[in-house]
Amino acid sequence: MYYNLNSLNDKIIEAMKAERHDRVKYQMMMEMTSDPEVIKQIKFAYDDEIKHYRMFQQIYYQLTGRQLDIPIPTNIEKYNSLMEAVQSSIEGESEAVDLYREIFALMTNKQMRDMVFEIITDEQEHFGRFIYLYSILK
Ligand SMILES: [Fe+2]
Ligand SMILES: [Fe+2]
Repeated sequence: MYYNLNSLNDKIIEAMKAERHDRVKYQMMMEMTSDPEVIKQIKFAYDDEIKHYRMFQQIYYQLTGRQLDIPIPTNIEKYNSLMEAVQSSIEGESEAVDLYREIFALMTNKQMRDMVFEIITDEQEHFGRFIYLYSILK
């Protein structure tokens, strides 16, 4: 089997950046509303993204022996409405699933694959929650 480790490492760095970005974005989105039901749905994803960041960080360490830290982004894109942010989050979660499937496919270690599988399942759940938010905000 062809196994391109550099490409795998690059994708994991990309994943860690995406997790950092999404957590800041979801924080911003929770500040755009006072509706407790909407906040509750976003908070699920917000809490998961820090768990995912740490899981990818652990995987990166296992693969390279290097501890990598991605700084928390300070100027992320702004949205005119919560609806616009929700729509972009539906797309973002779907892109995360695609990237993490690529990462999964490049891995051979079972324990690492189990971790990535758990993350993929969480992102699919986030995708569903944002679809739900889209339907109640419409
Ligand atoms: Fe995530
Ligand atoms: Fe997510």
